[in-house]
Amino acid sequence: MKLRNVLQLMSLIVGASAANVSLNRRDHGTHDYFAVHLHSSISPLEVERLLGARHEGQIGELDGHHTFSFPKERSGDLEHILEDLQRRGHQRRSLEARGVYADREGLNGILWSEKLRPSKHLYKRVPPPNLPSGPIAINARSPDGPDNQAAIARQNEIASKLNIKDPMFKEQWHLFNTVHPGNDLNVTGLWLEGITGKGIISAIVDDGLDMYSNDLKDNYYAKGSYDFNEDKPEPRPLLDDDRHGTRCAGEVAAVQNDVCGVGVAYDSKISGIRILSKAITDEDEALAVNYEFQDNEIYSCSWGPIDDGRTMDAPGILVRRAIANGIQKGRGGKGSVFVFAAGNGANNGDNCNFDGYTNSIFSITVGAVDWNNEHPYYSESCSAQLVVTYSSGGSGQIHTSDVGSNKCSSSHGGTSAAGPLVVGVMALVLQVRPELTWRDLQYILVETAVPINGSETSWQTTSIGKQFSHDFGYGKVDAYATVQLAKEWKLVKPQAWFHSPWLKVYHDIPQGDKGLTTSFDVTDEILKKSNLERVEHVTVTMNVNHTRRGDISVELRSPAGITSHLSTARPQDDERAGYKDWTFMSVAHWGEKGTGKWTIIVKDTVVNDFNGTFIDWRLTLWGESIDPSIQKLHPLPDVHDHDHDTSIPAPHVDTTSIDPGPTYTSPPFRPTDSVDRPTRPKPSTTTTPNPTGSAEATPSSAPENFLPSPFPTFGVSKHTQIWIYGSVALIIIFCSALGIYFYVQRRKRLRNTRNEYEFEMVAEDEEGFPLSGAGAGGKKHTRRGGELYDAFAGESDDEDPLFSSEGEDSHDYVDGDEDDDSYHDDGPQATAPGATTRS
Ligand SMILES: *[C@@H]1O[C@H](CO)[C@@H](O)[C@H](O)[C@H]1NC(C)=O
Ligand SMILES: *[C@@H]1O[C@H](CO)[C@@H](O)[C@H](O)[C@H]1NC(C)=O
Ligand SMILES: *[C@@H]1O[C@H](CO)[C@@H](O)[C@H](O)[C@H]1NC(C)=O
Ligand SMILES: *[C@@H]1O[C@H](CO)[C@@H](O)[C@H](O)[C@H]1NC(C)=O
Ligand SMILES: *[C@@H]1O[C@H](CO)[C@@H](O)[C@H](O)[C@H]1NC(C)=O
Repeated sequence: MKLRNVLQLMSLIVGASAANVSLNRRDHGTHDYFAVHLHSSISPLEVERLLGARHEGQIGELDGHHTFSFPKERSGDLEHILEDLQRRGHQRRSLEARGVYADREGLNGILWSEKLRPSKHLYKRVPPPNLPSGPIAINARSPDGPDNQAAIARQNEIASKLNIKDPMFKEQWHLFNTVHPGNDLNVTGLWLEGITGKGIISAIVDDGLDMYSNDLKDNYYAKGSYDFNEDKPEPRPLLDDDRHGTRCAGEVAAVQNDVCGVGVAYDSKISGIRILSKAITDEDEALAVNYEFQDNEIYSCSWGPIDDGRTMDAPGILVRRAIANGIQKGRGGKGSVFVFAAGNGANNGDNCNFDGYTNSIFSITVGAVDWNNEHPYYSESCSAQLVVTYSSGGSGQIHTSDVGSNKCSSSHGGTSAAGPLVVGVMALVLQVRPELTWRDLQYILVETAVPINGSETSWQTTSIGKQFSHDFGYGKVDAYATVQLAKEWKLVKPQAWFHSPWLKVYHDIPQGDKGLTTSFDVTDEILKKSNLERVEHVTVTMNVNHTRRGDISVELRSPAGITSHLSTARPQDDERAGYKDWTFMSVAHWGEKGTGKWTIIVKDTVVNDFNGTFIDWRLTLWGESIDPSIQKLHPLPDVHDHDHDTSIPAPHVDTTSIDPGPTYTSPPFRPTDSVDRPTRPKPSTTTTPNPTGSAEATPSSAPENFLPSPFPTFGVSKHTQIWIYGSVALIIIFCSALGIYFYVQRRKRLRNTRNEYEFEMVAEDEEGFPLSGAGAGGKKHTRRGGELYDAFAGESDDEDPLFSSEGEDSHDYVDGDEDDDSYHDDGPQATAPGATTRS
């Protein structure tokens, strides 16, 4: 039975009923929706014809990505077929990498697909509950020292020079602080120079924006706005607690008039993109982060996964692609500017490296500092935090606009309020230098942020002489200094990168103070070959098996001796899992050369019955290129990025009590509710386990420089079976997937079990697609039923002939070239413009 025939038959059967789907609205009650990534060799119309699914249009700005719909009662079949095609797409790419042209049916152009579920909840970074509530009278503590008197006089002078009559301006201490002089954004000097954000547009991605507020309406930018929760153009707040977005918008661009206060960039424009008031799909989110990305220059995002200290969550692949797409194509190719609030979970022991939005290299991650320059109890720390700015805590709160024609808020706060202040500063910078790229903006913040003396913080001096702290990043933003540097900034060269191979460790993690150390040597040749001149962001993707995730901590030490605390133990995180292909990020190595030994230290910090194994990891250095003329864009993120096809044994695996290095004091842990922290001690003290049961774990005597250039080929072996976790959730999904094959099962010629059906489809393809190997390389965050099934099918096929090629190994980690054609094509499938343009 040819796959094509099956598809055509299905198309006939369901084609009629697929014809009445509304174009603009999604009706998840009657239809299922699928996001599909197509190779340029296949057009959406062809897919529509073959699958009988309705083409709903391209997904926002993502070339080659389309939404198809299908009546609910039949969509299980489509889901199954898409999964099959997707697997085959993966196999096709592996074959094509070896020069075998495999796409004989024209159907393998379906590279990836995902069922869209309206189930994603994103959480506002609202001030945590134990924040002192109610308006804080700024004059309650009368500022009467000579410094205060001078500051008040200066404030009056500025207000009168700029003709600021906004009644709340004098309470906006974050703009000009007369209570603690100097503890503010230092922005008024820019206004006096006429730098007020003119011509710049920021999008507040949140729970709405009251465009009828008298404090916002003159700066409201309708074209850049959309309500994805209600599917309509105006992002007007509707729910009782839809106040967050409006308050954030006021911080950025409240109009200079006689209502409330002013925004940091009070002549800039603001759009409202409403996504937080209902559950959304990945499609909605992908559309939101690219919405009108030639007009909206900055995206203000004060939300993310819940900050409960036990969640580890990242955006889905579609959203990650959209964000990378915004970086590559938004703002005329200079890159959309994404500003994310670091998170308010410090009180729950949370850390912003467990949040895939804040730890993205594409985000400017902003934490909070209170008006005493102290680290507020809620603001999360992590190595991915770039800067901090003022927000609530220590009795000062943020005064801004609110929902209602003349309403103001005196109780805004949390990191939610910090992010938009940096958005305002970025608007001022872009007014002066609109051509700065997303990376230039991060450089300028690194260069000009001011280290502050928090009482519980340790600063490290980085290799370029900057101070870095996990609590404050590079320090607090000084708007004036930021813009002054921007004025004369020389644009950095394009981004280059080096991906190390996957490094197999397979070693038990000792408990207590001891750490499991392993390292990777980056040579000059590697960097030269990668066209990488100096480091900016560093990411480490890793797999750890563990029975209590919160016990694990991970440090990264650079050749220059700088320590990043990639992950810290989280007392409330008792997930019976470790890290699955999780990527941690650090900005602490900014400016380092990159050559030498990068060491990772994994600890199991609590001596108890919960233990684990460090499986593998991969280092990526991102930075400035040497020769801009040969530098390509990195492929968009791919589900296959985590295929471990080319892993090699890690050298230097060692269990030692190593030099503790710079100490890290995390903010005090103050549980909000009682935590059952397992502390049952083990009877015997931990010993140093041998690298048993694993040929891969190499003793520390292994040759140090195992990766000469040009890169050797590596022995390839599959470890799929490791990844078949007995996850109950997956089994449930798997079982429901079984249920929806009733239709297929009726087809006698396909025999009477779905297993045989699967093999049947593929057996047709003797030349190219032994399905039994399909799961071998595929290790994904989310397996659906079919994939899980296949992984089992592939269990015994440890060595998959498809992947044992010698030629493609170095290929994979040097620059990820293999995906270029998939992502940078401008194929004929182009776009169906307007089909999903929802305004
Ligand atoms: C299609 O939808 C319209 C309403 O939008 C309805 O009046 C019509 O009956 C539907 N047609 C079919 C074939 O379901
Ligand atoms: C603040 O801005 C002024 C210019 O208005 C500048 O002279 C000063 O250096 C900046 N920094 C501080 C800490 O005041
Ligand atoms: C930090 O503050 C303490 C006193 O609170 C002071 O002794 C110390 O010198 C300060 N350090 C810096 C770097 O400002
Ligand atoms: C974890 O502890 C159990 C029981 O003490 C032991 O059997 C197992 O081998 C340990 N696993 C690891 C990875 O250390
Ligand atoms: C990791 O855990 C899974 C079960 O969750 C297990 O099947 C697998 O063998 C483990 N891998 C290692 C290397 O311990």
